[in-house]
Amino acid sequence: MRVQFPKNFWWGAATSGPQTEGRFQKKHANMFDYFYEIQPERFYKHQGPDTASNFYNDYKKDIRLMKEAGLKTVRTSIQWSRLIDDLELNTLNEEAVTFYNAVIDEFIAQGITPMMNLHHFDLPVELYHRYGGWASKTVVDLYAGFAEQAFRLFGDRVKTWFTHNEPLVVVEGGYYKQFHYPMKIEGKTAVQVAYNLQLASSKAIEKYRALKLDGQIGMILNLTPPYPATQEAEDVQASEIADLWLNRMYLDASVKGSFPVKLIKLLEKEGVLWENSEEELEIIKANRVDLLGINFYHPNRVQRPRYSANSLAVDFVPDKFWQPYEMPACRMNVDKGWEIYPKALYDIAKDIQENYGNIDWFVSENGMGVSNEERYVNEQGVIEDDYRIQFIKEHLYWLNRAMEEGSNCLGYHLWTPIDCWSWLNAYRNRYGLISTNIHTQEKKLKKSAYWFKEISQTCSFEV
Ligand code: NOJ
Repeated sequence: MRVQFPKNFWWGAATSGPQTEGRFQKKHANMFDYFYEIQPERFYKHQGPDTASNFYNDYKKDIRLMKEAGLKTVRTSIQWSRLIDDLELNTLNEEAVTFYNAVIDEFIAQGITPMMNLHHFDLPVELYHRYGGWASKTVVDLYAGFAEQAFRLFGDRVKTWFTHNEPLVVVEGGYYKQFHYPMKIEGKTAVQVAYNLQLASSKAIEKYRALKLDGQIGMILNLTPPYPATQEAEDVQASEIADLWLNRMYLDASVKGSFPVKLIKLLEKEGVLWENSEEELEIIKANRVDLLGINFYHPNRVQRPRYSANSLAVDFVPDKFWQPYEMPACRMNVDKGWEIYPKALYDIAKDIQENYGNIDWFVSENGMGVSNEERYVNEQGVIEDDYRIQFIKEHLYWLNRAMEEGSNCLGYHLWTPIDCWSWLNAYRNRYGLISTNIHTQEKKLKKSAYWFKEISQTCSFEV
């Protein structure tokens, strides 16, 4: 059977500034640069983001390789910590302006449509130390100022923008699960940060619209569709609460312009509801997204709390209402410890179609992280990553089914074009269509890149 996609489908891939550029030239430290400076031992093999995949120096070569892999669209990000020189006065770092201009022009010259995100876990750390980071509304306003600079500078050529990538991960990692700096366990702050990130997004959208540029703007959300362990009332309820916090909070606020009432009531009851003004809620209401980017990696099997997990938490943490359920005998990506369940992508598409006005959206990340891929190198020196091809095919198959039923899905972006640095995992799990030798910076197409090129040209594949 042949699976057919529309001719204008976005066949692309996603990456980010902090994971690729390296800390070259003038740049403020972002949250992860700093995290690595103070606790290098928490990073796989103690490897930090200093060189990353050397995009700052290699961008021309990298973009040409992306073209060879058949990519038609690519999402990366502009780093606040690089673009802005004085973080209070919002002045520009001219070297950074030159760099991002050159990158955007190179993408366009190679026939690839660039899409830009403005926050990928990379808040300038000074703004955390000075104001408390995303917990502060001063930082929200400074962010909107930075976003406006980026729109003014690059909005003539970049037509698709995103305000944040996976805002929830900033909240979880930084404020109750301790895998992002500032590594706190503070439920109330987590809730305020969650709200402030939405407010920051809406304020940036307001700036974008005021400039009357010809383009679209959205937010990138990591969705984990919940599936209760059993149909017993307690498991179903746990799953509903997880869904409210993990998925609906940003879906509702960004698409419908207000947060789910049930979530607000729950947070109120716990005594941790965020502080907001009426004026802010109006800004959120008035500045909804044009499109959504959805990052999908794994489903969320949920059960009622059965054991004490976060024993360090002394007060409220958002995940106290549910616990992960490890489904026996499910398909796993062993390297990442994530369940593989491609049908969830169909469920997401149907949810957007039925509950979010069938808004335009695309898969902004999906992919498979695999360690030690050198074991799959063939005699020609090419990594034969058939497992990745299979993984992509299965997800595309379910996506296609939803599109046939009317889902407004515009594209599919794989994480990631070229193997890059990934947070605490550093270079352990590789996701790219193109491999990187982190010692020599030699980059090479994997088997999946040749396959991806073929589907991006034919807009179809055989299953
Ligand atoms: C989500 C994030 O956006 C990205 O930064 C990360 O590296 C990938 N997923 C892979 O885990």
